[in-house]
Amino acid sequence: MSTKRISTTFTRLLDVRTPIVSAPMAGASGGALAAGVVLGGGFGFIAAGYDSASKFSSELELARSILGKHIPDRLPLGVGFLCWQLEKPNSPAVDLLTIALERRVQAIWFSFGTEIGRWAQYVRDYDRKLDDGHKTIIFAQIASVEEALVAVRDWKVDVLVAQGNESGGHGVAASPPLLTLLPAVLSLIRQNEIPVLGAGGLSSGAHAASLLALGASGVVYGTRFLLTPESLYSDAQKEALLGAGVASTVRTMAFDVARGTLGWPSGVDGRGLRNETVEDYDNGRDHSELRQNFDEAMRQGDQSRMLVWAGTGVGLMNEILPAKDVLEELHRACVEHLQLAYSCIASDED
Ligand SMILES: Cc1cc2nc3c(=O)[nH]c(=O)nc-3n(C[C@H](O)[C@H](O)[C@H](O)COP(=O)(O)O)c2cc1C
Repeated sequence: MSTKRISTTFTRLLDVRTPIVSAPMAGASGGALAAGVVLGGGFGFIAAGYDSASKFSSELELARSILGKHIPDRLPLGVGFLCWQLEKPNSPAVDLLTIALERRVQAIWFSFGTEIGRWAQYVRDYDRKLDDGHKTIIFAQIASVEEALVAVRDWKVDVLVAQGNESGGHGVAASPPLLTLLPAVLSLIRQNEIPVLGAGGLSSGAHAASLLALGASGVVYGTRFLLTPESLYSDAQKEALLGAGVASTVRTMAFDVARGTLGWPSGVDGRGLRNETVEDYDNGRDHSELRQNFDEAMRQGDQSRMLVWAGTGVGLMNEILPAKDVLEELHRACVEHLQLAYSCIASDED
């Protein structure tokens, strides 16, 4: 890591050296990925996703073992929850939330639900009950200025993640691009009231520098961290990402229909690599046939039909590196580009 640190309201709140964050990614970000990012000086999230309690616990244990035994009763990483999963009746996801809180993770990230305020309160109540001095930091991922206002005023979350339309995986179909959403959100939030992070379509450290210059306090990368040995994506999925061009992604419901993950709040779809599953869906192919072909493709690692979530930045990514190295390179380039931007300011003599 560059010896230079970056200091923002976000890095001070989380006590990290750089404002670079790896996103929770269902089916992709487990304990090894989040721990690698933490070791690099950033902040990493494990996704609870659709995990069973035993799989989820083992990912938390893996992170703990990588981070070492010097952390006795806290885990300096976060866990992301899909709120619509928590909101299902008798949802097993609530057990995962309890497990995460018991392990005293540093942060919880909520997204995609109608009751985020209720779950934020659940976390606050849990902290109050334990009364051990630990305050879990609550992130909310939002995609509009209206939602940002509710998150700050009503849900009283600690960190906002503004997710632009370019983002990989699930998002709000009608969300504005990040360069529109982020300034719009920042114009509503009083300065330093709450850290606002930007997410969506980012691939390099120069992107992080540009968002910090816009006023963000931190920057979230998802797809870039899929291209690490630690990500839980299969080799075939990683190969497909490496082979993707700059215009290869699309927002669609095709993959959720094909794999049967339905129940998202209205207006949510997912951005992934366009392939024959998407074409068949768009052409009105019978859904049971779509599912059969999709299941077979996932079994065989067939890139022409498999699911590969990816943001618009994927075409600029060309190597698989350990998560710690990715983080360090993003930070190094971010510092370099911040210095470059600063050097553009003319002195009085110029
Ligand atoms: C494979 C994958 C899975 C994702 N799963 C989740 C998730 O479980 N919860 C969530 O809030 N966001 C999820 N996202 C979205 C990320 O939080 C983030 O907004 C996005 O990755 C940023 O865009 P980028 O991928 O272009 O960097 C996922 C993204 C990807 C690529």
